[in-house]
Amino acid sequence: MTATASSPTDQLHFTAEEILSSGTFAEPLIANGVRCHGGFDEAGNYRSPRVLFRDPAIAAWQNQLRSNGHELFEIAPELMPPSHPSVAQAKLLLQNDVREPLVRTLTIISIVEGFGAMIRDVKVPELERLIVEPIDGTALAHLTEGLFEAHARDESGYREEGGHKQMWEAARDAALENPKIPGDVLMRLMGRRESRGRPKPLFPEIGEELERMLGFMANVLVVEVIAEETFQWGIQLLSDPEVSAAPEEAGGMVANIRADEKPHVEYLRTALSEVSARTIRTVDGKTLAGKTVIDGMLHRILSQVKKNRRADQQEDIRDGLEKAVKQAQNPERLLEEFDALEIDWTPPEMTGFEPQTAA
Ligand SMILES: [Fe+2]
Ligand SMILES: [Fe+2]
Repeated sequence: MTATASSPTDQLHFTAEEILSSGTFAEPLIANGVRCHGGFDEAGNYRSPRVLFRDPAIAAWQNQLRSNGHELFEIAPELMPPSHPSVAQAKLLLQNDVREPLVRTLTIISIVEGFGAMIRDVKVPELERLIVEPIDGTALAHLTEGLFEAHARDESGYREEGGHKQMWEAARDAALENPKIPGDVLMRLMGRRESRGRPKPLFPEIGEELERMLGFMANVLVVEVIAEETFQWGIQLLSDPEVSAAPEEAGGMVANIRADEKPHVEYLRTALSEVSARTIRTVDGKTLAGKTVIDGMLHRILSQVKKNRRADQQEDIRDGLEKAVKQAQNPERLLEEFDALEIDWTPPEMTGFEPQTAA
């Protein structure tokens, strides 16, 4: 194998070892004393881990899809509500020495990043049997050939190297000077997940394993798209010397994480678009257009995001916020100011994946 870092290629087949390889870095990335993934090149620019082959591979699969006349779908970023607390709200709290709500928000982000590692445990059924058209030389065929594993390592670290979970923790601890972490963050997050329960299968006719795998991928993809808004927020807030104790280190860390996310969004939407372009065999011996399944799943998830995400974020910090402002000089006024900075947001009407009306 002679491909060089990120050089464009027509090659469509890669080994897991290639997909997982990073090449060499001139300098490692150390965050708050923790050795993290990725590193710096000779010129001091950050380089993401495991993209030596992964990036050109994803681009080649995307080209193949397009040149076969298929669509690579896109999720409209407007569907994602603005981060709460907003940068201005967060700044107001920090300037009044109210830190708990921000510590909580940043901790939730790091936990959700770590959840990404669950993708390596997703059961991948025998896709060649379940999909009518061939999948040789596609992203779909490489999910278990390095793509899921690379994603898992990026999010939660691998062996002695930290991943995004540890990088967000480092950014939080550097910017807010090793704050005390509320003990109930994970519990509350899990509580909400459980109370919503596992959604009913949308397409039982495609079989439980395939539905679960595609549903998981669609969910993670939406989380990744939401994250783009979060990164912007994190960079802006943690690079602000008025409220961050380590504007360069903490803001730079979030920028590094953002750079690593690109292949996640890209391989997931490529693989799901590949399904969309194909036909699925149902368990009762019939067939179903892949597009019906993928659009149906994305429509359901995005409708939920539109409906719940903003309220969830508000709820995550509200209790703590009311308690935390008590230490401010004038808690009521601070809360009023906080609420006055609330960003007005109306979700777009359409998700873009509405089911086609039956003829
Ligand atoms: Fe991540
Ligand atoms: Fe990610």
